[in-house]
Amino acid sequence: MKKKNGKKLKILFAASEAVPFIKTGGLGDVCGALPKILKKLGHDVRLVLPRYWSISKEKYGLKPVLGPMGVSTGNGIVWCQVFEGKSDGFPVYFIEHESYFGRAGLYDDGNWEFGDNPERFGFFSRACLQLCQDLKFQPDIIHCHDWQTALVAPYLKIWEQRNPFFAGTASVFSIHNIAYQGTFTADAYGFLGLGRDNFTDAKFENFGGINFMKGSIFYADAITTVSPTYAKEILGEPGANGLSIYIQRRKEDLFGILNGADYDHWDPEVDQLIPANYYSRDLSGKKLCKEALRKEFLLDPKERVPIVGIVSRFVEQKGFQYLMLVMHRILRDMDVQFAIIGSGDKGQEDFFGGLPALYPGKVGAWIGYNERKAHLIEAGADFFLMPSLYEPCGLNQIYSLKYGTLPIARATGGLKDTIIPYEEKSGFGTGFLYYQGTTAAIYDTVGWAVSTYYDRPEHMELMRKRAMLQHFSWLDAAKQYEDVYQKALLRRETWQ
Ligand code: ADP
Ligand code: GLC
Repeated sequence: MKKKNGKKLKILFAASEAVPFIKTGGLGDVCGALPKILKKLGHDVRLVLPRYWSISKEKYGLKPVLGPMGVSTGNGIVWCQVFEGKSDGFPVYFIEHESYFGRAGLYDDGNWEFGDNPERFGFFSRACLQLCQDLKFQPDIIHCHDWQTALVAPYLKIWEQRNPFFAGTASVFSIHNIAYQGTFTADAYGFLGLGRDNFTDAKFENFGGINFMKGSIFYADAITTVSPTYAKEILGEPGANGLSIYIQRRKEDLFGILNGADYDHWDPEVDQLIPANYYSRDLSGKKLCKEALRKEFLLDPKERVPIVGIVSRFVEQKGFQYLMLVMHRILRDMDVQFAIIGSGDKGQEDFFGGLPALYPGKVGAWIGYNERKAHLIEAGADFFLMPSLYEPCGLNQIYSLKYGTLPIARATGGLKDTIIPYEEKSGFGTGFLYYQGTTAAIYDTVGWAVSTYYDRPEHMELMRKRAMLQHFSWLDAAKQYEDVYQKALLRRETWQ
């Protein structure tokens, strides 16, 4: 039993992805890990996800519950089915609606965003509130994430303000990435049923269309984002992608909480997906992982050459378009190997996917999404490159540190909050940071890391050990969320 005022909290997580069921990026990691810890802290946590076509009912033993569920929308009732599963001891509900979620892809078909995304996620957000009522689960907190479930917070205030069932429910909206705001033409506004009065610049209106995040920034009782530095960045431009004035209006209710890492899965001591486990006091397993990485990515078996790893979505945010401009120079000038896995932008897929043919034995690349290969790169590489233009938190650098794989990154957002910059005089630090978003800075910093590997091996060793001791615990983060939940409950009471 847990909670400041004696009562444990009932918390509903409304999310569009969560491990182990479905993941396209860090959002899935967070929405799988945070409820698990909150549950351990004694709260009654439940998670609700769409039942995407790719989530197998058999694999996860999902059972139907409640019978058909009617969800009110601006256009009347939409019917769906609810399934229940379990994850780490807490219930997970799945909203099944064939025409919304019974297709390949979560948000797009690989090329284009789905045209009915506002209806799909508007419906899903309404369904989360209906689910609570049908289950008779009266949450103290509904915690929603990014544009996909942003509307839960406004719906609570607009549709449910006078519903006694939700009289004690506060909303928390977490921004994982403010670049994806859920902006659509106004066509879906009627379906969403958000009301004419709310179609204003302060709430949902956005250049004549609709903006889901903007509405949640207005209506949520508390707003969080995933690192303290990103919380500062989104108070201004260009960090806020045009939303800074709306964020500033809520700055009293905005909190930056650094993500943790789920060390049950991302720790070389216990990782089940790597060929050998290892410890900071004995890195012999890391050597074996490096050998395995070389084999799998067809890299020359040169023992004394460093490997730079990349695991990423190829999207503008991640900055690989800049790396592309200096990649040939890096490969020409430096004795280094690259192991790359990623997918997204077709131009970047072609570029990085084409490198092994140009530099056989020096670059290995695999285009696509693969959990095991991602773990192998974390474990087998010496460095991990993240040239992000912005990074709300970033989980890969946090994982890399634990694997003794030193990050090379731009000092932005969560990268700045988690990596200690290398000091060449003393050997202090845990990674190589650069500040300007230029191609020269990427080239120089990769060069700096590679020369440290060759010229200052004692610093490499010190940094590796220091990096592996860094611990970004979900427990610390969850305790901060507990405080935010209390603040949201207070804020709800005074909401005008
Ligand atoms: P973002 O959510 O912006 O993509 P994060 O660093 O927070 O960035 O999280 C990315 C997560 O997705 C990490 O767990 C990373 O390992 C995983 N990931 C990204 N691309 C791939 C890929 N191609 N294959 C496997 N895992 C990937
Ligand atoms: C977003 C951000 C990433 C963050 C993740 C989880 O995908 O791009 O930086 O780590 O959400 O919060």
